[in-house]
Amino acid sequence: MEQVSDPLQVARLAASGCFSRALAVAARLGLADLMDGGHVPYRNLAARTGADPDVLLRLLQVLAAGGVVERDGDGAFALAEAFAALRSDHPRSLRNLCILMAETYDDAFGALAHTVRTGESGFERVFGAPLYAYLERVPETGRIFDGAMSELARPVAAALAERHDFSAARTVVDVGGGDGTTLAGILDAHPHLTGVCVDRASVCARAGEALRASAGDGIARRVTFRPADIFEEVPDGGDRYLLKNVLHDWSPEDCVRILTAVGRAMHRTAEAREPGRPEPRLLVLEPLLDQESDGAHVLFQMVMCGKDTGGYGEQELRLLLRRSGLTPVLVERIFGEHRLFECVLDGDRHT
Ligand SMILES: C[S@@+](CC[C@H](N)C(=O)[O-])C[C@H]1O[C@@H](n2cnc3c(N)ncnc32)[C@H](O)[C@@H]1O
Repeated sequence: MEQVSDPLQVARLAASGCFSRALAVAARLGLADLMDGGHVPYRNLAARTGADPDVLLRLLQVLAAGGVVERDGDGAFALAEAFAALRSDHPRSLRNLCILMAETYDDAFGALAHTVRTGESGFERVFGAPLYAYLERVPETGRIFDGAMSELARPVAAALAERHDFSAARTVVDVGGGDGTTLAGILDAHPHLTGVCVDRASVCARAGEALRASAGDGIARRVTFRPADIFEEVPDGGDRYLLKNVLHDWSPEDCVRILTAVGRAMHRTAEAREPGRPEPRLLVLEPLLDQESDGAHVLFQMVMCGKDTGGYGEQELRLLLRRSGLTPVLVERIFGEHRLFECVLDGDRHT
């Protein structure tokens, strides 16, 4: 017998892009902040955001259908508890992440067919440049990206600060460290440490002020921002080098270039050490992907950065480390799917 599809089910899935865009507009308008924990009439929200009240009402209805907001009998809307992270002042805010995913990344998915056909980045097809070159060109999106990475980094940094033994270290160099959020989390828990955050020039230029605002003067003063191209040069002087959520954006060849640059810095640092000081170590922190069960995540990664960046599993990462002259001495789960690979230079005494 011929099977009959439920047209609503098909239509709902086909229209799911509408929900993500609605979420992005809600985040852009700051609706979650304006609702401030209570029900607010939609006309009031429209007046405060400069929106058309009739259209805003429809947007709120779409958000209500998605469970983002709840409506009372008088046409007033409140943020649902499950979406509290849309507030910009929430300690685990995900507002920037929502905007990044539902705008920029969603635009890149406009070229999904191109990625499926060719294996090339849809992002590059749509924006005419690879991800980081584009962020350099469009600072407004760059700021949203930095904010989104910071939102994701906070809980991982707290877990790393708690789980890893930083007692013998003095300086942590975070390679591709974004706006310094990860370092701030580590330094907050370990007052004897100082940090060096290495990233693209535009990220470093805006990060100091953002870090002072988010982490306070005391921590911000212990972090130095060093603009550098991490494919070419990484500063000396770290007891711990950190590469967190960096490698998955790059092909295996590119990963080896980054890891080799870090290895060179570790070598120079080891040679200049006072006798008796422990050798520098590299901490690679990556969410490991399972090629079978993480299909959506793998596809997402391919659309953003190309087929070669479809995520690494433990064996692939071990191979990349080996090709770069690094030996993992410990591999452990740190937070969610994030694994920590604690590495020494090949030939170290592994103490
Ligand atoms: C996915 S983000 C991760 C940021 C941070 N490590 C975290 O986990 O929140 C990758 C970072 O690498 C930086 N990056 C990309 N290419 C770079 C390059 N050639 N030189 C320096 N930093 C770079 C980006 O600017 C971005 O901050």
